[in-house]
Amino acid sequence: MKFVSVFSVLVVALLLMGFSMAGLPKPTEQHAKQVQQQFPGITVQQLNQGMELYKTHCKGCHFVKNPTRYSEAVWKQQVPAMVSRINKKGKKYISPEQSSLILNYVLVMGPYAKLSAN
Ligand code: HEC
Repeated sequence: MKFVSVFSVLVVALLLMGFSMAGLPKPTEQHAKQVQQQFPGITVQQLNQGMELYKTHCKGCHFVKNPTRYSEAVWKQQVPAMVSRINKKGKKYISPEQSSLILNYVLVMGPYAKLSAN
């Protein structure tokens, strides 16, 4: 009996982790193509780098937030604010280049993806 309850807690924990990761939209060539006007020369590799950085740095204090959840204005304000908060803590350092890779990822996969879907 004890084994069953420990096991089910483990399964639920793994499922929750899985969902919070699986929830993040994955960039494709199509996404990169759609935003050439807003982000000239942007590549799917850069979007993927942004996603990885986002997954690494933007969880822990809260679950990683889906890019579709906030408007362009909120992301443009929150990403730099969160980055400087993390950098102030001094444990990890996020460079300005990494910060803009994160911002581009959430904008392209969130507010911008929504716009082009219409
Ligand atoms: C050191 C802990 C910490 C880390 C790491 C962190 N955040 Fe946050 N974040 C918070 C807290 C606390 C809040 C709650 C609202 C507040 O205090 O601004 C928050 C809120 C937010 C919000 C919601 C703001 C709103 O208006 O609802 C966004 C968006 C956000 N974070 C994005 C990010 C991004 C992007 C990263 C990675 C660069 C990140 N966070 C990493 C602590 C963190």
